[in-house]
Amino acid sequence: MSIQLSIQNLSKIYPTGEGVRDITVEVERGELVTLLGPSGCGKTTVLRSVGGFIEPSGGSIQIGGREVSQLPPEKRPSAMVFQSYNLWPHMTVFDNLAFSLKLKKIKKKELTKKVSWALGLVHLLGMEKKYPSELSGGQQQRIALARALLLEPEVLLLDEPFSALDAKLRHELREELREIQAKQNLTMLFVTHDQEEALSISDRIVVMNKGHIEQIAKPQDIYNQPASLFVAQFIGRMNFLKGIAEADKITVGPMEFLNFHQYTGEITIGVRPEDVILTEGQGLEAKVEKIMMLGHYAEITLHTIIGRLKMFVDRGDMNKFQVKNTIKVQFSTIQAFNHQNEKYDRRNQVI
Ligand SMILES: Nc1ncnc2c1ncn2[C@@H]1O[C@H](COP(=O)(O)OP(=O)(O)O)[C@@H](O)[C@H]1O
Ligand SMILES: [Mg+2]
Repeated sequence: MSIQLSIQNLSKIYPTGEGVRDITVEVERGELVTLLGPSGCGKTTVLRSVGGFIEPSGGSIQIGGREVSQLPPEKRPSAMVFQSYNLWPHMTVFDNLAFSLKLKKIKKKELTKKVSWALGLVHLLGMEKKYPSELSGGQQQRIALARALLLEPEVLLLDEPFSALDAKLRHELREELREIQAKQNLTMLFVTHDQEEALSISDRIVVMNKGHIEQIAKPQDIYNQPASLFVAQFIGRMNFLKGIAEADKITVGPMEFLNFHQYTGEITIGVRPEDVILTEGQGLEAKVEKIMMLGHYAEITLHTIIGRLKMFVDRGDMNKFQVKNTIKVQFSTIQAFNHQNEKYDRRNQVI
């Protein structure tokens, strides 16, 4: 595998003191990497620095092994898709797509072929003569994507491309994008604040917070092994409880877990609702407060001596629960976060 995009120690500090610091991300050829984080964490700043729309304060950006930091956007081998589609309203779909190719002095026949190829990819063949105002939001974004693809970029940059669309369309386009990306072996840097979107389409996710990187990992590793309390809070659902670490043990109420990292004192324990499991043996007593049916699973709210807990159970197991009943639960996996460094303890398992 070769590195197609290499961002090294990138920083961009705005006059206000805000911005991003020490961003190092490498994207392999044919890989889809997502920058994920809350609004204002610096995702757009990183993406626009790669595209050449922002001048970084420091660091380097290489595409295909070539330093591009000094190049203007149009000279970079990258293309960008924005949240607001940025189509030219006075031009037909065909002209919107053909515009950049005409600049490259591509012959008419070749040009028509290329435009058809791009429209085919985004499932909009036959729309050549329409104007952007005659298209839905989803269709406009597909055209914007086709236009970017026609530039045959070495890196495709997408800044929250689907966030202006409704949920159903967002799901559809997300899947289509992933298909196109795989088929064309495209290298992509994708930006979103939507964790579900990031988990579903990415090869790897870069979780950002307040201008820095918290974790870079595959979606399943981000979910199963969040590197910090921030990542644990931001991604998926998680119960947080107080625990006490001492010697080789972490004590959470009546339960004990291995203290692999030798933490001491009060720590925070994270437990995913699906990792709270019913037990007949030793466990934590819990009173069922609420049962909410959410389709193929139910969310159960439990009251315990160490606090309120959320638990997910399969639809088939729902009959084991009744409001006001007392049950016993265990945690199949926990994450331990030390308050000083918020370090993650990946090997904590029930003992
Ligand atoms: N042109 C600018 N001038 C000053 N501050 C900016 C500018 N653009 C962004 N910022 C600040 O930099 C931080 C990161 O912004 P941005 O990259 O847009 O975040 P995101 O895309 O994750 O929402 C924010 O605090 C934002 O207010
Ligand atoms: Mg942004």
